[in-house]
Amino acid sequence: MDKGKIEITYIIHSDDSSLNNSDKELVVKSRETTSEAYAPYSSFRVSAVARMENGALFHGTNQENASFPAGICAERVLLAVVSSVCPNYLIETIAISYASNLVKDDYPLAPCGICRQSLIEYEARYTKRVRLLLTGRKGLIYEINSVSDILPFGFRPDNLIG
Ligand code: THU
Repeated sequence: MDKGKIEITYIIHSDDSSLNNSDKELVVKSRETTSEAYAPYSSFRVSAVARMENGALFHGTNQENASFPAGICAERVLLAVVSSVCPNYLIETIAISYASNLVKDDYPLAPCGICRQSLIEYEARYTKRVRLLLTGRKGLIYEINSVSDILPFGFRPDNLIG
């Protein structure tokens, strides 16, 4: 018998003052664009902003539906936008932020399980790590090296097609 151990290392920024300018721009834009979410049922407005390797920025926000399961998270809206509109350049970094009138919103949010799975698919598809900047309306920012870091034991395309 043996024991396994999984550890991740990530950077904790107490605010955006320790970020470089392009990361700061991404975080600011993710906070600003939470206002574009359509979230009348949860009042939980999420935005994910990608910086592509050519410097272009794209964002997606959560889009809810009266039939609740039909809603879609900001991260997957973003991936659909990027893969459709900018297929020739890859994502370098994604900043994710959220705002709510109902719950505390000044600490980092991590993507839900389905979004982690979708982000892992993107990393596997392009053999490229995607860096994450996770934050809330203000304050703390977690800088994570790769989506794989937050999905240990992830199910990947090569499990299915070799
Ligand atoms: N949501 C996201 O957009 N991303 C996540 O990673 C977590 C949850 C959205 C889905 C729903 O519209 C609202 O937040 C509350 O769950």
